[in-house]
Amino acid sequence: MENFNFHNPTKLVFGRGQLEQLPSLIPEGVKRVLVIYGGGSIKRNGIFTNVMKKLTSNGYEPFELGGVEPNPRLSTVNKGADLCKENGIDFLLAVGGGSVIDCAKTVASAAKYDGDAWDLVTKKVHPEEALPLGTVLTLAATGSEMNTGAVITNWETNEKYGWGSPLSYPVFSILDPVHTYSVPEDQTVYGMVDMMSHILEQYFHTPTNSPVQDRMAEGILRSIIETAPKLMNNLESYEHRETIMYAGTMAFNGILQMGYRGDWATHNIEHAVSAIYDIPHAGGLSIIFPNWMKHNLNVDVTRFKQLATRVFGVEPTGKSDKEVALEGIERLRQFWSALGAPTRLADYDIDDSKLELMVDRAMARGPFGNFTKLHEDDVRSILQMSL
Ligand code: NZQ
Ligand code: ZN
Repeated sequence: MENFNFHNPTKLVFGRGQLEQLPSLIPEGVKRVLVIYGGGSIKRNGIFTNVMKKLTSNGYEPFELGGVEPNPRLSTVNKGADLCKENGIDFLLAVGGGSVIDCAKTVASAAKYDGDAWDLVTKKVHPEEALPLGTVLTLAATGSEMNTGAVITNWETNEKYGWGSPLSYPVFSILDPVHTYSVPEDQTVYGMVDMMSHILEQYFHTPTNSPVQDRMAEGILRSIIETAPKLMNNLESYEHRETIMYAGTMAFNGILQMGYRGDWATHNIEHAVSAIYDIPHAGGLSIIFPNWMKHNLNVDVTRFKQLATRVFGVEPTGKSDKEVALEGIERLRQFWSALGAPTRLADYDIDDSKLELMVDRAMARGPFGNFTKLHEDDVRSILQMSL
């Protein structure tokens, strides 16, 4: 393993009814809270009312930034930063999925920066200060509730980039599985594809001694694979929502990635696609990941074979390593497809007319990927396989 320091300061508050703890979790001295949310799901399922009651009855003055888009936009971040500056906001509360949380993380730093938030997203400047934020997670997917990452789209330039700062860790995140009961079928599937992709991005890392991390990753993947079909049969099962919510956080809070760097190339390619076509993040991942795998099979076929046998139960006897590896990739593709995730970009009416633009956007920060570096030709070929 590489040397590492690990410190994740987010307080995780998990389980049924945990919203009760909200007032005691907000740091002392806070008065004005900006509640950030999406397109209205929290108003339909009652979470908004409960959050507002908790705030007002405990003496906080709530402000609102609603309408955060899935694939949150720079314009909304800048609007949020202005709101903070104009109203002397001292705490942000993100109530929603990854998009709302990512928007809030970026608002937190932009509120303390005298310029366009895009400077932060493009890493032109690094924040020196940020407002503290907490989250009430309503969709299990990104892991944003317990990491520093935020992904923001500039719709004017068709660019979507991830950025992060230690200042972006939420102070706390409240995870009540009941809050995810109303997540519709498609978003439930996307969430599970996303968290599995996060584990896979980390599973494919530069060669290193990682037997503990491997087994943890495989264990979470197996748990998601076993739970997913049961959850799809009963979207209001506390037990299954709980398993998936916990899996999503554990998949991407740094625990699995101690001592090595994950690959993350598929995410980079997907961000290039959704920057141009505004498709759901994990819809893109379910299409691209199996093709990234096929393209890179020969980088280290034993790693793909390990995934195939340990996670997808492929029987290796009488087969070459490559055959076993390919069977594992096919089982992953079939698993996602059986859940209802897309398999081709054509499923979103995406053809090759903007292929070069997607390649260009993916290459914006130069060759990428830590399992193996992808160059322009690699990206083009993975996208072509995905059409
Ligand atoms: O906007 P509302 O009305 O709230 O509806 C949302 C949205 O339409 C809905 N939803 C959320 N909770 C719900 C609900 N509907 C009913 N009941 C509930 N309880 O679900 C839809 C999708 O929400 P969104 O937040 O966009 O989904 P997700 O959590 O998958 O986040 C996706 C974004 O996160 C980024 C992606 O690129 C994308 O922009 N990512 C962030 C990461 C991070 N910060 O670490 C890592 C990821 O890899 C990812 O790139
Ligand atoms: Zn993701």
